[in-house]
Amino acid sequence: MAKEPVRVLVTGAAGQIGYALVPMVARGAMLGLNQPVILHMLDIPPATEALNGVKMELVDAAFPLLKGVVATTDVIEACTGVNIAVMVGGFPRKEGMERKDVMSKNVSIYKSQASALEKHAAPNCKVLVVANPANTNALILKEFAPSIPERNITCLTRLDHNRALGQISERLNVHVGDVKNVIIWGNHSSTQYPDVNHASVKTSSGDKPVRELVGNDEWLKGEFITTVQQRGAAIIKARKLSSALSAASSACDHIRDWVLGTPEGSWVSMGVYSDGSYNVPAGLIYSFPITCKNGEWSIVKGLSIDDFSRKKLDLTAQELSEEKSLAYSCLS
Ligand code: NAD
Ligand code: LMR
Repeated sequence: MAKEPVRVLVTGAAGQIGYALVPMVARGAMLGLNQPVILHMLDIPPATEALNGVKMELVDAAFPLLKGVVATTDVIEACTGVNIAVMVGGFPRKEGMERKDVMSKNVSIYKSQASALEKHAAPNCKVLVVANPANTNALILKEFAPSIPERNITCLTRLDHNRALGQISERLNVHVGDVKNVIIWGNHSSTQYPDVNHASVKTSSGDKPVRELVGNDEWLKGEFITTVQQRGAAIIKARKLSSALSAASSACDHIRDWVLGTPEGSWVSMGVYSDGSYNVPAGLIYSFPITCKNGEWSIVKGLSIDDFSRKKLDLTAQELSEEKSLAYSCLS
């Protein structure tokens, strides 16, 4: 029997990530090659024409899995009945703007979109926040959508996770698909901690620890970490635009693994509501190692954390606590 279509909301759909993401969703890269979808695309009135252009292209591409497209600037119409919400829309930092000004604009966007999702999305809608500051936007969304279970609100750190896999694969000259179990801890910002202490590479003689194969602690504790932390800025410098295809692809990875499950023996990184695991303050949206099964995520427990890592976990938690206070000060 044919499957019922899943309704996927993409906000900021006329922007760069939106333009890369919607064809991936329509081709089955997010929910599988046998799952029909209906795309809901939201943007703001100045982007109406561009949004309609994206809709025209989706029609022209004749995607067999795409059963419908809603393109709108009405947040209620956009949110109605959605099963998955990928929140990409937001206010970018412009020249001369202070951090607080950007935070204030985004906090008010996420506050109002939280209410629309809470009232109009399908029950059990899964939410992924991509727009920066991703962790704190997700936290605001959670606070203002109290009836959406906190387990359903996440933010994107899978791009950072994939970047870490990519750096290890290049360094060791191994296929990226053979590297697993890196971890991104904390904020999607330059304080994030990319951790390879539990990562391994599949070899012809079994899985080998990344640390042993790299054999250079100085690189792992230095250049590897800073390259991953600053990769977003490096892309902006090179493209004069922030990452889009890799962000869109990682957003598909995040939702696909959440809905369809992570492979046995491996984990991914997701920004989720902290329950206090690893002594990360409860009540922050923080990136942890995560496994998924039957549409539910769980934090991987019991990993050893050395002193070097402890300091890095605490530093990024500290930044998130400060962002949380700043966000709340914008609300008052
Ligand atoms: P973009 O400026 O090209 O697109 C953003 C779109 O959002 C625009 O079309 C804009 O009109 C729209 N928008 C603005 N306010 C909106 C609102 N209230 N409702 C709906 N739409 C709205 O930006 P982009 O390159 O697509 O990036 C989008 C966001 O994703 C940025 O905040 C960026 O920093 C962030 N980002 C996050 C990651 C990550 O890994 N978490 C990676 C890359 C980019
Ligand atoms: C990225 O990691 O590529 C982006 O979050 C960078 C940015 O500031 O948009």
